Amino acid sequence: MANQELTFDDEQFIVSKTDLQGKITYGNALFIKMSGYNESELINQPHNILRHEDMPAVVFKLLWSHIKAGKEIFAYVKNKTKYGDYYWVFAHVTPSFDHNRQISNYHSVRRKPSDKALNIIKPLYTTLLQKERSGGITASEEALNNLLKEKGVSYDEFILSL
Ligand SMILES: Cc1cc2nc3c(=O)[nH]c(=O)nc-3n(C[C@H](O)[C@H](O)[C@H](O)COP(=O)(O)O)c2cc1C
Repeated sequence: MANQELTFDDEQFIVSKTDLQGKITYGNALFIKMSGYNESELINQPHNILRHEDMPAVVFKLLWSHIKAGKEIFAYVKNKTKYGDYYWVFAHVTPSFDHNRQISNYHSVRRKPSDKALNIIKPLYTTLLQKERSGGITASEEALNNLLKEKGVSYDEFILSL
């Protein structure tokens, strides 16, 4: 039965690595298990193979702008499995650097998100998605920036405060 929520334990980590284009180069056993795919179906595929339609695009825009600039980012992400089920993660995504300090690839480690954080993130993402449907990514970016301005915090500070 599709569209069921899957979970994992508090002490577990879901790990993956990508190349500079976001193609999967590595996934740990839990990453593979949660996805529903075989390892061979994941390696070399774009990481958006796990993209869930409930995710606002603005979150991925922020993710890529951070990591391309050499910065880490934390983000709450709803992922979709091969079978149409889903699981929420709290992701830390970082660039890796070569000897010349050039970005060589990307790395993500995900933990189980707290209910407390998801209670804030879920309605926020619903709002951002609605904004995207009516006014595109500019509208959702504006809504997110307004929320952060109201709170007087940066995206990073907001996410880490949840
Ligand atoms: C290391 C790394 C891990 C990522 N993990 C996920 C993930 O778990 N789920 C997801 O939907 N996108 C993830 N992304 C972002 C995807 O590359 C992609 O931007 C996103 O799925 C949105 O798809 P789109 O860019 O084609 O719109 C990750 C990117 C990187 C670099």
